[in-house]
Amino acid sequence: MNDTIAFVQTPQDIVNLMVSLISEDKKRQKSIDILDSGCGKGMFLKSLLNSKFTNLEGIELSKELYDYCYENFPEVKIYNDDYLDWMNLKEYDLIIGNPPYTHYNSLPKATRSKVVRIVGNKESDIYYAFILKSIDLLKEGGELIYIVPYSFFFNTYAKVVRDKIIENGSLDIIIDLDETRLFEGENPETLIFKFTKSSKEPHQKIRILRIKNRKTKPGIIYKKAIEVFSTTLENDIFTYYEREMFTKENEVWTTYPETIISNYILLKDICWIGVGLVSGYEHAFIVDEEDISNFNEDEKKFLVKAIKSKHCTGFWTEGYENYLLIDKRINSEKELQSYPNLYEKLLSFKESMTVRYFPASNKWFHWQALRNYEKLKSLLFEPKIFVPSLDRSIKNRFSLSNKPYLPSGDVLTIIPQKKDPYFILGYLNSNFFREYYLSEGGRRGHRISYTQRIMSNVKIPVFDSKIENKIATITKRVFENKDLSKRKEIDEVIKSAMK
Ligand SMILES: C[S@@+](CC[C@H](N)C(=O)[O-])C[C@H]1O[C@@H](n2cnc3c(N)ncnc32)[C@H](O)[C@@H]1O
Repeated sequence: MNDTIAFVQTPQDIVNLMVSLISEDKKRQKSIDILDSGCGKGMFLKSLLNSKFTNLEGIELSKELYDYCYENFPEVKIYNDDYLDWMNLKEYDLIIGNPPYTHYNSLPKATRSKVVRIVGNKESDIYYAFILKSIDLLKEGGELIYIVPYSFFFNTYAKVVRDKIIENGSLDIIIDLDETRLFEGENPETLIFKFTKSSKEPHQKIRILRIKNRKTKPGIIYKKAIEVFSTTLENDIFTYYEREMFTKENEVWTTYPETIISNYILLKDICWIGVGLVSGYEHAFIVDEEDISNFNEDEKKFLVKAIKSKHCTGFWTEGYENYLLIDKRINSEKELQSYPNLYEKLLSFKESMTVRYFPASNKWFHWQALRNYEKLKSLLFEPKIFVPSLDRSIKNRFSLSNKPYLPSGDVLTIIPQKKDPYFILGYLNSNFFREYYLSEGGRRGHRISYTQRIMSNVKIPVFDSKIENKIATITKRVFENKDLSKRKEIDEVIKSAMK
């Protein structure tokens, strides 16, 4: 099937679950206009026919899959066309399906330009274009039920999709299936959503289900999701809650309950927050004690100590990396040769360092991205909190150091400026903050992503100064004694203060 883009079959139980989400009044009118966009081998068409719908259409790019559907579903009108530039004058009561998922960079050239025309940027996925196009093709009151990757909830380049959804109606249902294995060979983080096109203010809350166990089989997903909808209660497979529709003020969307903090200051108002320095070639720039003992005094001026993700223990840091930080103090290979031991060390990597990515203004021996370097140097002797930018540990790992360490590229740095660093450290490591951060959209698969953007805008509750001191005191004890058993006391103080 050379002409297919991302053909993957949706399990029948998932298809049936999605068909069950069609609103009751539409289910009663069997002759509503329905389109399956990217109908593949007709999994959705089959389920819709079983539910006795009569006005079905499907569009499929691949000739082979089109032929399959044409033969097997004579009662359905099938188009062998590209949905992205399909010109039809009809609008639908329901568009349903599992659109293709493929990032712009992996799409055929001709498809790329169609995606850019619809979405407006080159960082998109083809499924963004499917969502946008489908919204346009819906009637007022029409419904879009899709299973797609979770990433449009948080991706910066999917803001156009989130905004389009907000501007044209609202979400009624989200079923967050996380990384449950649903598709042959593929394991994306998926969610099912139901959108209703409406020019009126949303009158219903979004019903949000989130799967608890990624190993759940489609049959159980079907049964347990139906159970949640009838009881409106969480069960052993899904968490459940309802929330107001997202607004444009929500930078990212999330399936975690909102944590309301009404009296707060933003982290960026009391701390400097920034990403770390990227060497772009760790092998060459990391040095050991033996290397260092060979360097002369001038060469040693290029040594720095940096914290990487692996040094973030949680509360404190353990160890550091010695780096040669080669910046614009050296501008030519000739200048580099005047530091013979540095030259010798770097020369052995020259070939591969030359072909790595670096900005045009750099030489092969320079660091790739000295992000925030001047600022970091000016704050070098301040206490700093480091956190892995992408973390899979089950407890937060914000880690303080009072030493003059720089951050490496895989950590985010928080430098407290207007509050006790121990208070900030304790708060950021609390369960309360973790839940709150997830509700702000920090989840990436089963990891948490600490980004400068989200962290800058996190809310720090305004606590009574006694509470703040208490948090700082317990945290300092945890830090100094390297005793994590006391971290639950921080949780208790915050929990009772937030009540
Ligand atoms: C993820 S598969 C889903 C197939 C089927 N709906 C199912 O759920 O089993 C996506 C389908 O979209 C089709 N497709 C990809 N790009 C398309 C396009 N631009 N226009 C129409 N169909 C397309 C693929 O050939 C594939 O069959």
